[in-house]
Amino acid sequence: MYSPDQTKKLQQLTESLLKKDEKHPITSGEVEQLRDVLRFHEHRYYILNDPLVADQEYDKLFKSLEKLEQLHPNLITADSPTQRVSKGLTKDFPPAPHLVPMLSLENSYNEEDLRDWDRRVRELAKLDNIEYCVEPKFDGASISLIYDNDLLQRGATRGNGVAGDDITTNIKQIRSVPLSAKFSDYGIQQIEIRGEVLINKDNFNKYNKHLVEQNLPPLANPRNAAAGTLRIKDSGEVGKRNLEAFLYHVSYYTITPKHTLSDELQTHSGCLKMLWDLGFRSPMKEKKVLKGIEGVIEYCREYEAKRDDLPYEIDGMVIKVNNIDMQDQLGMTTHHPRWAIAFKFKARQATSKLRNVEYQVGRTGSITPVAKIDPVAIGGVTVSSISLHNEDVIREKDFMLGDTVLVERAGDVIPYIVKPLTELRTGSEKKIEFPTNCPVCGDPLVKPVDEAVWRCNNINCEAQVLERIIHFTSKDAMDIRGLGDANIRKFYELKFLRDVPGIYELPFDQIRTREGFGEKSITNLQSAIEASKSQPLHRLIYALGIRHVGETTGKTLAHAVKYLPDLANFSMEDLQALEDIGPKVAGSVYQFFHNWDNLEMLKKLESLGLQLKNEGPELTAEGNLSGLTFLFTGTMPTLKRSEAEAMVESNGGKLVGSVSAKLNYLVVGEDAGSKLEKAKKLPSVKIITEAEFLQMVNR
Ligand code: IVH
Repeated sequence: MYSPDQTKKLQQLTESLLKKDEKHPITSGEVEQLRDVLRFHEHRYYILNDPLVADQEYDKLFKSLEKLEQLHPNLITADSPTQRVSKGLTKDFPPAPHLVPMLSLENSYNEEDLRDWDRRVRELAKLDNIEYCVEPKFDGASISLIYDNDLLQRGATRGNGVAGDDITTNIKQIRSVPLSAKFSDYGIQQIEIRGEVLINKDNFNKYNKHLVEQNLPPLANPRNAAAGTLRIKDSGEVGKRNLEAFLYHVSYYTITPKHTLSDELQTHSGCLKMLWDLGFRSPMKEKKVLKGIEGVIEYCREYEAKRDDLPYEIDGMVIKVNNIDMQDQLGMTTHHPRWAIAFKFKARQATSKLRNVEYQVGRTGSITPVAKIDPVAIGGVTVSSISLHNEDVIREKDFMLGDTVLVERAGDVIPYIVKPLTELRTGSEKKIEFPTNCPVCGDPLVKPVDEAVWRCNNINCEAQVLERIIHFTSKDAMDIRGLGDANIRKFYELKFLRDVPGIYELPFDQIRTREGFGEKSITNLQSAIEASKSQPLHRLIYALGIRHVGETTGKTLAHAVKYLPDLANFSMEDLQALEDIGPKVAGSVYQFFHNWDNLEMLKKLESLGLQLKNEGPELTAEGNLSGLTFLFTGTMPTLKRSEAEAMVESNGGKLVGSVSAKLNYLVVGEDAGSKLEKAKKLPSVKIITEAEFLQMVNR
């Protein structure tokens, strides 16, 4: 897409644009250059996975473009990088008829199926040897895109194959889909292309972790996550889920008069190359062109072996006749093209019997039903326990005890039950009765109207206490290695450990006398416990297991105070003034710090040697100022304002415009005025000098 020369030029342009500041701002004459630079970096990041600038630098240029376009709205173009940004909620998704019906593919499951198909193709084409293009079968949600005169006009779901839903606003959130592409260079006026929207395994797992932190049920698998995300009405939310798209098929195009057909358009592999060269993510690198079916089979097997190592899910390979004229000659049946076939990998599904449902009590009292099934091997792993998330899942999917159930396990993804096979019911199946009382402490369960999860509200419920201790010691929290789930449960049973502070008062004399505890493991455990006392404050906050407080909120709260118990002085409004804290999170933080037991526990932890004071900012790899906000006031002794601000950004910090609870540091110079006065009234704002600021940067 970008030649080495173009890359060099755009890199130089990037540097010169990044140097611009308030005194020498980017001018309206440079708007197209700025856009080219942004598009170039999007391509490096989202298609090549090889960025050439830091995120903050990209953001800085993006903001400059937004500012310029705000000042000169006449400069805005439909394909400007700013035009991906969501504008409120989508009302509904109007019907979107496809230019050519979206057919599905015939499936094959073994080598014989493939050889049979090849035989049929050779007979119909009257040729001995056919050239095939083989590429992964992406396991996501299919989409179709229409570009008119180089501009993305419409993005649609597959729907019933004849018409789908118009999801253009959501498609624009997918950064690997260009808003414009130079199809005109190939003489193309209008084109319809097909592809697959995916969420990669990493982003899927991250997103699920976030859902679980919010006490929401995680999504079943990346395929459902991608399909579901495309139908969300809040395109801002779509943007956050980091969808990706592979484009793999040209289904229709019109050629401008007098233009001859480009060579690329005469083969499928040529189409993939054209799409790649135009900035799309096509399976250009993943595909292989092969003559004859035996090589095809070998390539399919090769890919199957590395399936788990790919960053995204694939469920097979697709084999296509490479020559487009030959494709047309082969035509299609009523259901699928004759020129292509899917080779499906071994299923990661199996059936088993649902024997029982057990109910687990989580750290915040949430009750999770867990299906106990007859052990079954899927993709090399034996599965016997599967979360059903909440009561609604049981009702919606209509599970009954004794049902034969279909179980799926994809790659690194947690197994889940797809559905009960109701046609196999015998009449002996039993309804699943969701408990009305906590299975551990017996307290009545409650469920707020707007939530899906039943809860035990007894914070002294043994199950909750245990889960809180386990969470407190976990890797991302206080990271006390050697304590582990099993030991915590054992110590709890033996009454060696009954609450979180108890971790720091373990009776090692007694532990020593028990089987399974050598001197070495005891010393290791003691030093892990000792080391945890100096974990930074944000980890302690996360470790406390306050509902809705994940690692990010832990950091926000840690930056807001000098001494943890001070959070008890924050009103709901103060809490909500902090970054990314809404009423729900604020409510649970407020509740936690207004509970006498919790405050006593903090006192106890402090007396046991834990650090409740904020020992200054946490230093992170992205930059010494990561996660912190700054504002400058007055004249600095040595730095120019613009230099100081650039230093904040290039070290991972953020600039804010005014003094509020969102501000972490006010850097004051000479003649500081009202900002300083206001900051003095806010205990969470630290007031520092230029010298102190420079120390933070260089630390
Ligand atoms: S070609 C007319 N290529 O698999 C042929 N499909 O049942 C158009 N899929 O609906 C499809 N990866 O959603 C093609 N590399 C690939 C694919 C692919 C995934 C999906 C697609 C289609 C389904 C086939």
